[in-house]
Amino acid sequence: MFFSFVLWIIFFYVVYYWLTMKPKNFPPGPPHVPVFGSTFYLLRKHLHIPMAGEWLQKYGPVVGFVAASRKIIAICGPREVLEVLHRDEFQARPVFSFFHDRSFGKKLGVFFSDGPYWVEQPRFTLRHLRDFGFGKRSMEEFIMEEIEDTIKEITKTEIMQATGLFTIATLNVLWRMIAGARYARDDAEMLMLLEKLRLLFRSGSAGGGIGGAFPILTKIAPVFSGYALMMSTTSDLQEFFRKSIREHEKTMDENNARDLIDVYLREIKLQGNNPASTFTEEGLITICLDLFTAGGETMAMSLGFSLLYMLVHPNVQKAVQKELDAVVGRDRRPTLQDRASLHYTEAVLSELIRVSSVAPVTPPHRATQDTKLNGYFIPKDSMIMVNLYSLFQDQEHWGDPEVFRPERFLDADGNYVKDDWMIPFGAGKRVCIGEVLARNTVFLFFTSLLQAFWFSLPEGDPEPSLVPLPGFTIAPAPFRVKATKRF
Ligand code: HEM
Repeated sequence: MFFSFVLWIIFFYVVYYWLTMKPKNFPPGPPHVPVFGSTFYLLRKHLHIPMAGEWLQKYGPVVGFVAASRKIIAICGPREVLEVLHRDEFQARPVFSFFHDRSFGKKLGVFFSDGPYWVEQPRFTLRHLRDFGFGKRSMEEFIMEEIEDTIKEITKTEIMQATGLFTIATLNVLWRMIAGARYARDDAEMLMLLEKLRLLFRSGSAGGGIGGAFPILTKIAPVFSGYALMMSTTSDLQEFFRKSIREHEKTMDENNARDLIDVYLREIKLQGNNPASTFTEEGLITICLDLFTAGGETMAMSLGFSLLYMLVHPNVQKAVQKELDAVVGRDRRPTLQDRASLHYTEAVLSELIRVSSVAPVTPPHRATQDTKLNGYFIPKDSMIMVNLYSLFQDQEHWGDPEVFRPERFLDADGNYVKDDWMIPFGAGKRVCIGEVLARNTVFLFFTSLLQAFWFSLPEGDPEPSLVPLPGFTIAPAPFRVKATKRF
């Protein structure tokens, strides 16, 4: 009896040791404790901050963890971030049941797929989104319609919650191209979906959270691990997309596709019984889910941050308005063509992106082969966490990264100067497919609203906090704003 007990103990210890063993020449990193490995280091809320601070100082730019049995490499230094984003063997996504359960247990869509499927699907998605407005004149028209609607709303209310102001408006721009539809600000179904999405984004973390580290918890403690919220939000959104797909099927004309859903449905039909086809209804639903979730929060939160910083830095707000008055005047709204002449405004937008850092860590990447980075061994299938924030906060590069100073993007003649370290949308093959849409939407909203209104803190309200809320992406803490018409 005693002998078999000892044998079991030895067996478990050997299995545990084998699972959590660090390979030879693995990057340095925090110590690991029995059973949990280094998991607890990954559960911190604003993970990008210790990554670019204490971990970088203590362990260097490439940090190795073993969390449960998973090998994780945190890329904490700016030069290494740029290198990883451009090396082919780091462009896959991890096999993460926590994430694949949102796409029918398979690697579908754009965000969490890889291999030949991922090469084909984003290419198809982007090509056809371009047909329906991405990067075209019609995109600007869609954005301007939403801006007019937002200006009407602001004029009506004068004092409002700033963070909720943009969620439906920015999503509408994207949704017009995907499903040919837009939603009213008070649409109950859309408000409910966006609220669930908001809770989901805020409850997550760049490290994948406890459910990512211990997949077993998603089954035995679904609420605690965040799995229940993710699956209920996913299932509501899938149902919403399915409804839209059924409506498209009833009304579509194959020779005259209206939006991305129409062309995707046509492609499913064209591929017919081709066993190699990657075009399926589940794939379409997951693409809608990826675009809706990626675009639904990020653009609105970027605009929320921009109002927040304008409240806190009224002198910058005044200077943007001065430039807008000089370049655009007051008789028409700003357009994308004005962009090249609005040097100071462009510098402010870059500085806003730098300080707010909405997506500080990319979704996890995966190494597709055994490889080396900075001389360290990176085993095949390691999960790679890429910290973009490290580029935006590097002391050596920026001098005073903690200061909000748009002038850092201007040369001696006041011309806007692009900085290669400003990669808020990632870089390389996995760069964000919504980059052009997001940049144009944020530019047009920001300039049109600042042309029309002076934004200030409502009397009696406390100074809003610049400390953001954590999550998969980060967001400004709720604050109110008072909008006064400028003319
Ligand atoms: C301010 C707004 C946005 C920011 C800061 C942002 C940032 C990012 C970042 C950092 C990545 C990860 C790149 C990587 O894994 O290395 C990404 C990926 C992605 N983004 Fe965005 N994004 C924004 C808006 C959007 C919008 C509007 C859409 C919808 C069209 C979108 C769709 C996607 C998709 C589908 C991916 C996955 C690409 C892939 O894995 O191949 N994003 N984004």
